[in-house]
Amino acid sequence: MLSKKTIEKLRDLQTPFYFYDLDVLGSTCETVRQGAEKSGYSVHYAVKANANPRILNIISSYGFGADCVTYNEIESAIKAGFSTSKIVFAGVGKTDKDIEAALRSGILCFNCESIEEIEVIDSIAARMCNIAPIALRINPYIEAHTHKYITTAMPESKFGINTWELEEVTDRLSSLKHLSLKGIHFHIGSQITKMSVFRSLCTRINELQDWFAARNANLEIINLGGGLGIDYTNPEKAPRFEDYFSLVNEFINLRPGQTIHIEPGRSLVGQCGTLISKVLFIKKGKNTTFAIIDAGMTDLIRPALYQARHKIENLTSKGSINHYDVVGPVCESADSFAKYIELPETKRGDIIAIRSAGAYGESMASRYNLRDLPRAVFSDEI
Ligand code: LLP
Repeated sequence: MLSKKTIEKLRDLQTPFYFYDLDVLGSTCETVRQGAEKSGYSVHYAVKANANPRILNIISSYGFGADCVTYNEIESAIKAGFSTSKIVFAGVGKTDKDIEAALRSGILCFNCESIEEIEVIDSIAARMCNIAPIALRINPYIEAHTHKYITTAMPESKFGINTWELEEVTDRLSSLKHLSLKGIHFHIGSQITKMSVFRSLCTRINELQDWFAARNANLEIINLGGGLGIDYTNPEKAPRFEDYFSLVNEFINLRPGQTIHIEPGRSLVGQCGTLISKVLFIKKGKNTTFAIIDAGMTDLIRPALYQARHKIENLTSKGSINHYDVVGPVCESADSFAKYIELPETKRGDIIAIRSAGAYGESMASRYNLRDLPRAVFSDEI
């Protein structure tokens, strides 16, 4: 909940902007740090969730590593204080230039997604007289029960190496001299709220571990990826880290010398961010009333892209309850944050808060319509 004092300060600022509550971010990071330490996990923050330099800097101060998907992300992570020896490089389409730069900077591991990628990394490493540490991202075929755009482990998904290709991959690896196999990697989707999905992942990993053990492969890293969901209807609620850690501890069978790696993105930063906007106009529609705000899909694309529903609050009105469609100013009908929601009587100039927007909000912003990118305001600056 934003305090009255905070709201007073925010209402004078130029909207729209992301407001980051550093207490929430700090306590979330601390929970994860303690949970991971107790269980012996390595945490790599998924930078794509929020690459704001200040957020990165805070997260790196908890000793976490970083999961990056471009060399630009790797560079930002290094600048923000992440140690290169704790950076992993994922992605289904890494460019030669990015592979070369990542190898030169000495990252922990390339999470590889196809045979061709493995061969290219080997040839680049050979050219650079280097050995590239790799993990195999495997598609374990697990339904994540989330939006289809953020489901990544179906048979038709572009992500990960298919299990029917593993035999060929291990054969190829034995002849590629500039690679060193460190482990296996998974990421089955995002905004996963059913814990049983992670249980299925653990079971599948145990089976795959048997397969690799039978081939004498030495796997040090068992990387579960990210995916833990947050409660969008209840922004004050912390993610279920405790349930997650205890479930994984119970169901995964590690072998000697193995470490679990996890890559939380949304669960670390989602609840600390709120998109703050101002009502520009109220307009009557057929069977509805539009509250047109100055934030749009260029600032937060999740509702337009995934039909995501973020909790919306009017911070400055205490009037009687009405129904509104809360929409942005962008020239697209998809530029809508919510349909027919209850808000107190809303008028021009009211401040609207779109909650749980810390993950995949600022990082997915665009300049469509040549709109300005949203600014960031931190709770210790106001
Ligand atoms: N690791 C890998 C390899 C990933 O691809 C991702 C996210 C993560 C970790 C972090 O997952 P998380 O803990 O945040 O679920 N833009 C979408 C989410 C896309 C997720 C992409 N991959 C959204 O706004 O819902």
